[in-house]
Amino acid sequence: MDFLDAARTRFAPALAPYLAEGTTAAEFLDLIRPAKDPQFGDFQANFAMPLAKRAQRPPRELAAEIVAAAELTDLFDPPEVAGPGFINLRVRDDVLAAETAKLAADERLGVPVAEAPQTITVDFSSPNVAKPMHVGHLRTTVIGDAVVRILKFQGHHVIGDNHLGDWGTQFGMILYGYKNFRNEAAYQADPVTELARLYRTVNTLSDYHAAKKKLPKLEAAVEKSRQAVADAPPPADKAAKKQRAKLEAEAKTAFEAIEAAEKKIAAIDSDPTLKKLADAHPEIAAAARKETAKLHAGDAENRRLWEEFLPPCLAALQVIYDRLGVQHDAVYGESFYQPMLADVVDELLTRGIAEESDGAVVVRNNVDPAGKPVPGPFVIRKGDGAFLYGTTDLATVKHHVDELGADVMLYVVDSRQGDHFANVAATARRWGFTDTDFRHVSFGTVMGEDRKPFKTRSGDTIGLESLLDEAVERALAIVSENDDAKPDGPELDAAERRAVAEAVGMGGIKYADLAHNRESDYVFSWDKMLSTTGNTATYMQYAHARVCGIFRRGSVDRNALRAEWTSGNGEILLTDPAERAMALQLNRFAEAVREASRDHRPNVLTDYLFETAKAFSAFFEACPVLKAESEELKTSRLILADTTARVVAAGLGLLGIRVLERM
Ligand code: ARG
Repeated sequence: MDFLDAARTRFAPALAPYLAEGTTAAEFLDLIRPAKDPQFGDFQANFAMPLAKRAQRPPRELAAEIVAAAELTDLFDPPEVAGPGFINLRVRDDVLAAETAKLAADERLGVPVAEAPQTITVDFSSPNVAKPMHVGHLRTTVIGDAVVRILKFQGHHVIGDNHLGDWGTQFGMILYGYKNFRNEAAYQADPVTELARLYRTVNTLSDYHAAKKKLPKLEAAVEKSRQAVADAPPPADKAAKKQRAKLEAEAKTAFEAIEAAEKKIAAIDSDPTLKKLADAHPEIAAAARKETAKLHAGDAENRRLWEEFLPPCLAALQVIYDRLGVQHDAVYGESFYQPMLADVVDELLTRGIAEESDGAVVVRNNVDPAGKPVPGPFVIRKGDGAFLYGTTDLATVKHHVDELGADVMLYVVDSRQGDHFANVAATARRWGFTDTDFRHVSFGTVMGEDRKPFKTRSGDTIGLESLLDEAVERALAIVSENDDAKPDGPELDAAERRAVAEAVGMGGIKYADLAHNRESDYVFSWDKMLSTTGNTATYMQYAHARVCGIFRRGSVDRNALRAEWTSGNGEILLTDPAERAMALQLNRFAEAVREASRDHRPNVLTDYLFETAKAFSAFFEACPVLKAESEELKTSRLILADTTARVVAAGLGLLGIRVLERM
């Protein structure tokens, strides 16, 4: 049973008399939390203090009144009021044993099905195609997949949607590259690699010309900045010191911009082949833009090439998705919305939501649905008639609400696009999509050990495929070492080791990503993520394999035992504190799933799984299982171990991570 939820339900009516008019109990019920120290019970309610303040009453007295009024004793021992007015709750041992037995027999492990299932679209992964996937795509793919799995498990109607960037400006670059720089043999042999090379070439050359054009301006900025530092008053007092530091920082930034530009220029100037190309294509950026415009205008050749490029690019993406075990329910790429964009802009203009501004069409939102200011203007049609990223997102809203019936639209996209999605949501509201909840499930950046965005040594972005390969190679070394060190000798053959390494490697990468608060940046560390101890997938996978090992050693068939125990109304015996703690922890699975999905935070679930694996270690150490004092106790402990393994497998499964019977 979700005891936290039960405690909230039981306390709710008892709080009513103390609430100020127009407020609800919810914020106070949120102050019921799992106890930090088991010595004080299982849960602690801290609402008496703020309520007493409002009522101007002694908090302990109020706490006692609330405890007396709430119906608790069928679930909890008589609660204690402690300190300034904390209420300590301890689940009754008989109730805990009975509820754990129920949980052990339940296929859903106590997780309820949503009473009012919603239709939820989850936009995740959504890479720009024709560029290989890189480490930047990891978080959206992994977090999005977990969000989808959790919501589906709760019984919602979920549509995981890949909003592929299959229509953007990168195609103009590729088209230009294909027409001018293509190596036909390479293209025939491996189109995706050749297209990626063409993209990089065009990108590098246009960066080169842009940097050259910008250089005089950058130089002027540095000059100005230096002068400002020179003219600054001497750092006599604090304010002057602060001002000087600020100016110096600005000068440094300006200087770094020049350095970056010069580096780009030198890279080409020092390479005769590239230099020749660069000189031959001075207007490459504009030319690439023209190719995009032609594609969008329906030019037959560009359209034909686009149709030729797409399938191999999608196949390359699929390789990565298969490996990660990630699936989408729908793929509505940007190109899908193309025929709808003109109407979107017209409609917004007609309704007076959008306006013309210097030839472009913009929406000025000012505030988002929650009242937070939104920077603007939000451009939905450029002066040359081209539609934008945002126009497509507005068409997506209309499609997902009208055609798919979306009650909620989630966007699992990095935090730098926050303003963009605030504008999408604000415009959609004004457009009349008021019953749909739009949520940007945002996340931070993957950093290298140097705390800068994760790059290769030479400064290139890291391809996702090579990252996955490296994870498996490293996992293989660890798995092999562990297997070699087993007291009775190695258990796995080479093929089994490979299979285990694939699960450990993928699991390690995913778990490390999911275990961090999604909004923070996190440092990518191989050693940490593949460690066999600590908050890692590997540790959880080992806990699972350990349970399977107990059953193997005792020659007990897990499924048969559970079936027999369930049909005979078997009991759970809680004879030891570690056993009791294990049982309580298992009952908290529903709470963990609920809390993880509340604001789409998979790290709530990883924290829970870590606590569960730790509780299992403590239980396993304190309580002999196969050698328990009685047959009844042995069965009860086997069932506890089995349920733990099922909770770990289900929890990891919701994160898209596999478990193994043996490793
Ligand atoms: N393709 C975009 C990018 O790579 C992400 C798309 C996110 N989803 C959306 N509906 N805008 O930045």
